Amino acid sequence: MAKSLPNRPLRPATKLVRGGQMRSGFDETSEALFLTSGFVYDDAEQAEATFLGTATHYQYSRFGNPTLSVLEERLALLEGAEACRLTATGMAAVHAAMLSHLKAGDRVVASRALFGSCHWIVSTLLPRYGIQSEFVDGADLDQWKRALATPASLVLLETPSNPMLELVDLAAVCDLAHAAGAIVVVDNVFATPLLQKPLEFGADVVVYSCTKHMDGQGRVLGGAILGRKKWVDEVLQPFIRNTGPAMSPFNAWVILKGLETLHLRLPAMCRSAAAIADFLAERAEVARVFYPFRADHPQQALAKAQMAAGGSLVTFDLKGGKEAAFRFMNALGIVDVSNNLGDAKSLVTHPATTTHMRVGAEERARLGISDGTVRLSVGLEDVADLVADLSEALDAIAPAPVPQRLPPVVAPVVEAPVLSPPPSDASGAEVPKSRRARAKPERGAAPASLFELAAPLPEAPRRGD
Ligand SMILES: Cc1ncc(COP(=O)(O)O)c(C=O)c1O
Repeated sequence: MAKSLPNRPLRPATKLVRGGQMRSGFDETSEALFLTSGFVYDDAEQAEATFLGTATHYQYSRFGNPTLSVLEERLALLEGAEACRLTATGMAAVHAAMLSHLKAGDRVVASRALFGSCHWIVSTLLPRYGIQSEFVDGADLDQWKRALATPASLVLLETPSNPMLELVDLAAVCDLAHAAGAIVVVDNVFATPLLQKPLEFGADVVVYSCTKHMDGQGRVLGGAILGRKKWVDEVLQPFIRNTGPAMSPFNAWVILKGLETLHLRLPAMCRSAAAIADFLAERAEVARVFYPFRADHPQQALAKAQMAAGGSLVTFDLKGGKEAAFRFMNALGIVDVSNNLGDAKSLVTHPATTTHMRVGAEERARLGISDGTVRLSVGLEDVADLVADLSEALDAIAPAPVPQRLPPVVAPVVEAPVLSPPPSDASGAEVPKSRRARAKPERGAAPASLFELAAPLPEAPRRGD
C-alpha cells in the first residue's frame, strides 16, 4: 500500500507528483492503470451491501474506478477542494456541473466571453429546458450588479476568457452571486490550477478541460469538476452515475502522468508567452496584443491580484483581417494550425472561423473577436525559435517587403556543452591532461536560463493578498 503523505501543507509540485498516491498489492512505483469496466464481489451479500451503501467497494467504472480516484484526489488536493469528479471531456464537465444543479424555472447569469460550446449551452440548450439565461459583459461589474439584483441559481464565468483573455473580478462577482442565491461555477482552463485558485475568491465549483495543460501533450480528452463534498456527493454524483459522462481510466492515467510535470512545463510556457507578447506588440502588422500581465491590458491590476502569472496564451489582432490572419498562419513553419491549446507544441487558432464560428458575427463583434484575431497557445519549443517563426510569418503577410526588424533579445537557451576532441600540440600528439590550460568557467553561463525558464512561479494569489 502507498505511504500516506505527511500531514503538513505540501507545495504544488509535490501534490502534482504524489497527490492521491494509492498502490495496489504489487507495490508498483507508477500509478496503476485499472482498465476495467466492472468489479467482482466476494459473494452476493457483498454486492447487495455495496449497492445499499453499507459496504465500500468499486462497482462499475461509470461511477467509480481506482485510477480515477487517484486523479480525483490529486486534483482536489491541488485545487484545495473537498471533492472532485472526472468526466470524459471538459464540455461534459461544464454540462454536468450546470445540469446537475439546475431545474426548469431557474435563472443563470453568465459572462458573455465564454468558449463557443459553453456559450451554446447557456444561449441555446438551457432555454430549451425552461431555464432562463442572461449574458453580461464579464469585465463590467455594473452589469453583474444589475443582472444579480434579481435572484439567480447559477453563475458561469471564464477568466481569463477564450480567446480575448478578458478577466472577471472573482471576489466581487462571487459576493454578488451569493447575495442573489446563486452558486458560482468558474471555468479555470486558461489559468490552470497553478495560476489561479477560484475557490479562494469565493467560487463554489471549478471546472477544467484536462485535455489542455494537464495532459499537456495533446494525447487525451478529459474534464474535472471540483467543489464541496456535500454538493459533489448529493448533487453531482447522482447525475454522473445516471447519465454516464465518465472519463476512461486510460485517459485518467495519461493525465496523472501529465500532471507530474505541470509545475515544470507551465512556468516555461508562461515566460515564453510573455516574451512573445512583447515581441508581437512591437510589430507593425499587429494592431493589438492581449496578454493579462502586460501593462497595456486594461485589467492588468486585476490579473496580478488573481493570477500567479499571465498564462500560456497570447491573443492578437492583425491589421489585415482574415486574409492577413490566414496568410500569417499558413506561413508558420514550426507553430501548427489547430484549435487546441495548452500543448507542448505551440498552436495557432483563428477563432472567428473555428472555435467561435457558431456564436455568429454579431456576438463575435460584442466579444471583440475580429476577423484578424489570432490566438496563440505557446508551447515548450525554444522561445528564440518561436520568435523567429512568428517573425517570418509576419513578414509573409505584407505582399510588398516589410522593413526587416530583428527579433527582440529573448534569452536563448544555450545548449549543453559538447565534448571537444582532446587538444594536441604542434606535432599532433595529444597534450597530457596535466599540461592542458584550465578552461575558464564562463561567468553567467547559460544553463541558468534553462533553469530560469522552468523556475517555479509564485503560488496563486489568495483573496486580499
Ligand atoms: C475555456 C474552455 N472550456 C472548456 C473547453 C472544453 O474542453 P474539451 O475540449 O475538453 O471538451 C475548452 C476547449 O477548448 C475551453 O477552451
